[in-house]
Amino acid sequence: MHELTSSTLDAARLTQALGDSAGAYELRWLPVCASTNSVLLEFPAPPPGAPATVLVADAQSAGRGRRGRAWLSQPGAGLTFSLRRSFDLPNMAGMTGLSLVVGLAVAAALENLGAAGLGLKWPNDIEAGGCKLGGVLVELGSAQGAVWAVMGIGINLTLPASLRAEIDVPATDLATLLGQPPEREAVLAAILVELAGRLAEFERKGFAPFAGAWQVRNVHAGREVRIVDDGRVVQQGLCLGVAADGALLLQTPAGVQAVIAGDVSLRAAGD
Ligand code: ATP
Ligand code: BTN
Repeated sequence: MHELTSSTLDAARLTQALGDSAGAYELRWLPVCASTNSVLLEFPAPPPGAPATVLVADAQSAGRGRRGRAWLSQPGAGLTFSLRRSFDLPNMAGMTGLSLVVGLAVAAALENLGAAGLGLKWPNDIEAGGCKLGGVLVELGSAQGAVWAVMGIGINLTLPASLRAEIDVPATDLATLLGQPPEREAVLAAILVELAGRLAEFERKGFAPFAGAWQVRNVHAGREVRIVDDGRVVQQGLCLGVAADGALLLQTPAGVQAVIAGDVSLRAAGD
C-alpha cells in the first residue's frame, strides 16, 4: 500500500477537504487490488484511539458485496475504499448496527454535496429513486481485547453504459444525481468527515442514538417486505423500523419480530 504522495488522488486537495477530520485517518492508495476490504483484513488493526487506516483503490479486480456477491466498478466509474478502525469495546456484541451507521454517514455526505432523495435499504444499500447508488460491506473481528472493523464503501460516480449493463439491479450514479461528474476527492473527504464523529459516537453509545435518523431514510418504512435467506422467504411483514441494536423490526401476524442482518436480504413484498 502506498502513501498518497504518488497517487492518482490529489492528496493536497483531499487533506484540505478533510479539515479537522484529517487527524482521524491515515490515508493509503493502490492503483489496483482484489478488494480494499480484503487487503485491509490482512493489515494490522490500528490500536484503539489511533487513526483509522483508509485504503482507496482506483480499481478492484474482485470487489465484494455480501455473501460472495460482486461489487462492480472501473477506474473513474466509482469510488471504492475501506477503513480499518479499532473500537474500545469488550466484545463484538457492541458492534451491531455499524453498517447502518456507515450508511447514514454516506447519505449525509452525498446530500451535503448536493444529491437529493437518498434513502437507505436495510442493512447496507444507499439508494436514490429505487436505484442502487452505493453499498457498504462491514467485516468484524477481535484481537487482544479490542474489537476492529473493516468498513468497505463503494459509490457509483459516473457509470459508463457498459458497466451499467453488467449490474443486475437498477443502478444510478452521482453524476446523474448532481447533474455533473463529481470529484472523487470531494466525495471521499465528505464521507470521511461525516464518518469521523459518527464512529466515535457509535463507539461510546452503540447504535441506539442513530435509530431515529436511520428510520427517516428507511426506503421500506411502512411497506410490506419479505426477508429472504438463500432464495427462501423466511419472514414477511410490515417494516416498522430498526431496533436499538440495528435489527429490522417487522409487524407480523405473530407480533413484532426482530430480524438481524446476518445472511438475510430484504425485498419489497411485490419483488
Ligand atoms: P442485500 O439486500 O442482501 O444486501 P444486494 O442485492 O444489495 O442484497 P449486496 O451483496 O448488498 O446485495 O450487493 C451486491 C450486489 O450489488 C450485486 O449482487 C449486484 O446486484 C449489485 N451491484 C454490484 N455492483 C454494483 C454497482 N456498481 N452499483 C450498484 N449495484 C451494484
Ligand atoms: C454491497 O452493496 O453489498 C456492498 C458493496 C461494498 C463495495 C465496497 S467497494 C470497497 C470495498 N471493497 C470491496 O470489495 N467491497 C467494498
